[in-house]
Amino acid sequence: MGTVIGKSGAVPPSSAGRVTPWLGVVLVVVLTAGALFGYDQGVISGALAGIKKAFSPSLLMVQVITSWVTLGALGGSLVAGELGEFLGRKRTVLVAAALFTAGAAVQYVASDTVMLVAGRLIVGAGVGMAAVAAPIYAAELAPARVRGRFVSGYQLAITIGIFLAYLVNGQLSAQGNWRLMLGAAAVPGLALFVVGLFAPESPRWLMLKNRRADAASELHKVEPDVAADERLLTIEQSLAKDDAHATHWGELFSKQWRRPLLVALGLAIFQQITGINAIIYYANQIFSAAGFATEAARASVTLWAIGGVNVVATFIAIAFIDHIGRRKLLLVGLVGMGLSLAVVGVAFEFISGSPASGTANATPSMAGVVTVGALVVFITCFAFSLGPVVWTVINEVFPAPLRSRGVALATAVNWGSAWLVSQFFLSLVTAIGSSLTFGLLALFCVAGWLWIYRAVPETKGLTLEQVQKLWSAKA
Ligand code: BGC
Repeated sequence: MGTVIGKSGAVPPSSAGRVTPWLGVVLVVVLTAGALFGYDQGVISGALAGIKKAFSPSLLMVQVITSWVTLGALGGSLVAGELGEFLGRKRTVLVAAALFTAGAAVQYVASDTVMLVAGRLIVGAGVGMAAVAAPIYAAELAPARVRGRFVSGYQLAITIGIFLAYLVNGQLSAQGNWRLMLGAAAVPGLALFVVGLFAPESPRWLMLKNRRADAASELHKVEPDVAADERLLTIEQSLAKDDAHATHWGELFSKQWRRPLLVALGLAIFQQITGINAIIYYANQIFSAAGFATEAARASVTLWAIGGVNVVATFIAIAFIDHIGRRKLLLVGLVGMGLSLAVVGVAFEFISGSPASGTANATPSMAGVVTVGALVVFITCFAFSLGPVVWTVINEVFPAPLRSRGVALATAVNWGSAWLVSQFFLSLVTAIGSSLTFGLLALFCVAGWLWIYRAVPETKGLTLEQVQKLWSAKA
């Protein structure tokens, strides 16, 4: 996900004026895109059992089916930055919606695993594209005074999407109806497409294309009282300043911007290698090994212990991110994540089942209950720290002219890391056992803690321009 305020924080602060229902349309677009992203992340955890029955895939194929959404997302996020400049923000969201819908339909009718994987890749491309385009769209269209909430709303929508996916899994898993689980995303996908057709375009992008009259009319649609001339002039000035920096990909890698690049990429990687999506994707199988024998028991513990807790704990970040600060949330969250993963590792010493083989224990043992408790702590700590904070910081660290590409690159690296984890998690469990695998994830938390402590500065309360001064001060 990316929170891009154009190339520059280009939309100047607005006074508290009236807003129209068009702003609601913008919000619906952003929340639906986020929820679809989350739904497609979460739904596979419940669909796997039915897919296994239908196609008897190998362990490698199970991981491919699970994880290639992230490969598609990697590609989607890389092209989204360029597409957003070329087609416009709104039309990029429309392309993402079309991909969501098409991918869901392909999965629904898949006659073999190859077709299923193709559908997963298409959906993934939509997820990656939405992850970059929707927050840019939100940030550029929301009046400044609600921009932060709009963009945090996107992460919240992701967690709600995951929750909804688990809910659908619970309803449909008894019949093993994986087709409906995966295909259901076509409905909101189509809805997003239709709402998106009528949604306003970003005035900043219209100005970039020298369409001043259209920019003024879109601006007035959302904020009827705004002094459009003044606002458009500021956008124009900031675009002119950005142009002077003649942006190209190479500049992102210049020595001058090494620190913000490393901060963004490091955070993107640590968010994933500490295991969040191993838990999101394979929750059902972990709980199966931990002794939740029936599909219904697994579905409800996944729904509430993972999905529900993830939504609720995200509010903690929304409430505190601007008070407690980014660094403290990250550091405290990582301590909780590391400790809880270590506890899961130890608990699996007492559990004979394995998430990789799908072996289930008949009843939850003490160790099984401890595992659930520890995973609740893990999800809580992720949701108030690495989940939203990483995306916030990634979007704060780049200088204005490099932000769009920097965020797209960090998003792609984030998806690449997510792919690595979800692709190899079960293989690792088979090779070294559950305990050592969770132990390894805990070690990554320690490494992440040490690196963040050294490398990530506090950006709370700073303007984006002040953030840039941090790099020159320490260069
Ligand atoms: C991460 C996703 C993850 C989600 C879970 C996001 O911040 O980027 O990979 O699945 O949080 O809530």
